[in-house]
Amino acid sequence: MNIWSKFYLKTKSERLEILKKLNKINDKQEKLLLNDELKLKEIANNLIENQIGTYEIPYGVLPKIIVNGKEYTVPMATEEPSVIAAASFGAKTLENFTAKMEEKYIIGQIAFIEYDKEKLKSLDIENLIEFSNTVYPSILKYGGGVKNIKYEIKNEFLIFYVSLDASEAMGANIINTILESLKTHIENLISGEGLMAILSNYATESVVTVKAKVNVDKLKTDIFSGEMVAKRIIKATEFAKTDIYRATTHNKGIMNGITAVVLATGNDTRAVESSCHSFAVKDGKYQPLSNYYLEDDFLIAEMKIPIPIGNVGGYIKVHPMAQLTKQIIGHKNVKELAMIIASVGLSQNFSALRALVTKGIQEGHMNLHYKTLAISVGANNLEIKEVVKLLKNEKTINSEKAKEILQNLRENKI
Ligand code: HMG
Repeated sequence: MNIWSKFYLKTKSERLEILKKLNKINDKQEKLLLNDELKLKEIANNLIENQIGTYEIPYGVLPKIIVNGKEYTVPMATEEPSVIAAASFGAKTLENFTAKMEEKYIIGQIAFIEYDKEKLKSLDIENLIEFSNTVYPSILKYGGGVKNIKYEIKNEFLIFYVSLDASEAMGANIINTILESLKTHIENLISGEGLMAILSNYATESVVTVKAKVNVDKLKTDIFSGEMVAKRIIKATEFAKTDIYRATTHNKGIMNGITAVVLATGNDTRAVESSCHSFAVKDGKYQPLSNYYLEDDFLIAEMKIPIPIGNVGGYIKVHPMAQLTKQIIGHKNVKELAMIIASVGLSQNFSALRALVTKGIQEGHMNLHYKTLAISVGANNLEIKEVVKLLKNEKTINSEKAKEILQNLRENKI
C-alpha cells in the first residue's frame, strides 16, 4: 500500500511516525516537533534588530514528488490552507518531472555616473575578473568565483554586470563584498565616479526549466472529459497570456508553492519572488510563467523560472527548521534543490488551474479554509471539527456564521 495515501487524514504523531520510519527525521526531532520545540528562540536576538519575539508559520510536508527520477518529501511553510493539498495533488497527478538548471550565477551591478571614455575602451575585462577573484578567494576553493564581467551604457549610466558562481551559497554577501572592492578598483582605472554597487535580484542566470505530463484520461471529472479539462487548462493559460490581471494571479498560484518551500529551506523569499515576477515580464509584457499544451494523449506542463537560492550559509545554518528541511528533502546540492522547488511551483499551478476550470477554486480551498475560520472565531481543538461540519451545511459561510455556530454549540443549542 502507498505509505503516503491519505497522509492528510492522519494525526500529527502518525505523520511523524511515517517520516521516522522513512529515516527522514530521528527520534529526537520527532519529540521536538511533537512539542513544537524546534525553534530559534535562543538565537533570534542575534539575527535581526529590535527583536521582541518570534513569529511562527505552520510547517507541513508535500509527501511525495518525483523529480528527475528521484523521490522527495518536501517541507512547506505556509499560512494558507489548501496550498500543501494542491501541491500534493499536482505532484501525485503529474508524472515525469524533468528539470534542468544549467548555471546558478548571481549577478551584481556597479553603476558609474562619470568616467573617462578613452580609459574605458582600454579596460581589460580578464584583469577585472582576476582582481575580483582576489577579493573573495575562499569561494574559489568551493569551485566558484567570478565567471564573467561585461558593461553597457544606458542613458547617463555606465553599468557593469558581474556574474558570480557562488557554488552552494546564495551569494548575496559574497557578491556585494566583491562589487564594493571592484567599484573602487574600476574608479581608479577609468577615472570614474561610482554611484553604487549591489547584487541584482533579476536572476537571469539562475533559471530552472521544468516539464511534466499527465495522461488526459486522469483529468476526467463528472462533467468534463479528460481532454476537455486539458483544453480548458490550456485556455486558462491563454487567458493569462492575454490579460495581466489574470497573469498575476496565475503566477501567484505558482509562488504559493515556491515561496512555501523557499521559506522552509531558510532562503530569502523576497529575492526569489522579485526575481520570478521580473522574469515574467522579460519579453516586455507580464506573462504567465508556466505553459500547457497537448502532445498525443498527454497534457504537457512546462515552466522556466529563476530560483536564486542557497544551500549553505548564515540563516540556513543557524535555523533549526531550515536544517530539518534540508534533512527531510535529502538533496545533494543547491541545483537539485532549485529544481525541486520549481517542480513544486508547477504542481501547485497545475492543481489550481485544474480546480479553476472544473469545480472552481472555492470548493477545494474553502473545504480547507473552514478550519481557519473556526479557529479565527475562537473554537478550541475539541470544537473545530464540529464547527467545520456544521459550516459545510450552510449556504452563506463567513465569520459571523462561524461565530453563531460556535455559540450555539457552546450553549448546547445544536
Ligand atoms: P480533490 O480532487 O478533492 O482531491 O482536490 P482528492 O480528494 O481526490 O485527493 C487527491 C490527492 O490530493 C490526495 O491524494 C492528496 O495528495 C491531495 P491521496 O492522499 O488521497 O492519495 N489532497 C490533499 N493533501 C493534503 N490535504 C488535503 C488534501 N486533499 C487532497 N486536505 C484539492 C482537492 C484541494 C487538491 C483541489 O481542490 C485543489 O487542488 N485545489 C486548488 C487549491 C489551491 O490552489 N489553493 C491555493 C489557494 S488559492 C490561490 O491562492 C491560487 C489561485 O488564485 C491561483 C490561480 O488563480 O491560478 C487559485
